[in-house]
Amino acid sequence: MATKSILVIHGPNLNLLGIREPAHYGHITLDKINTQLSRIADTADITLETYQSNAEADIVAKIQNLASNTVDFMIINPAAFTHTSVSIRDAISAVNIPFVEVHLSNVFARESFRHHSFFSDIAVGVISGLGADGYDAALRFAINRLNNAL
Ligand code: DQA
Repeated sequence: MATKSILVIHGPNLNLLGIREPAHYGHITLDKINTQLSRIADTADITLETYQSNAEADIVAKIQNLASNTVDFMIINPAAFTHTSVSIRDAISAVNIPFVEVHLSNVFARESFRHHSFFSDIAVGVISGLGADGYDAALRFAINRLNNAL
């Protein structure tokens, strides 16, 4: 059986994790999050790619370029684009790859403009407020799902 593949997409400003608003996002850096995810994926013999961009068009292009038979599952923190981006939502619908939406902070405990997501209703599930552990949980879920797929 071919090795399963998971893509993690981090949206805008997540490259600043570690220095950015630690009260909301903690002190962990994006590099540390990605390293931890890679460890989990390696142990499970899953191919993992991580990708970060501050540009909506680049994220749309990245998703458009995925052949659905090369990436089996996605984990996405669209960051600010969560609340604004119909184009990223449409790109995901076009490639039809299942995904979990992750937020470090509990968006529902914050400003009301963060309460709406353009992604949640098409996501397999949503994790919000667990900090970096949310990514780990999403990855473990994705691995279980892929390993149990028919
Ligand atoms: C975020 C929440 C968003 O509202 C915000 O714009 C972000 C990060 C989170 O991970 O908590 O940039 O997605």
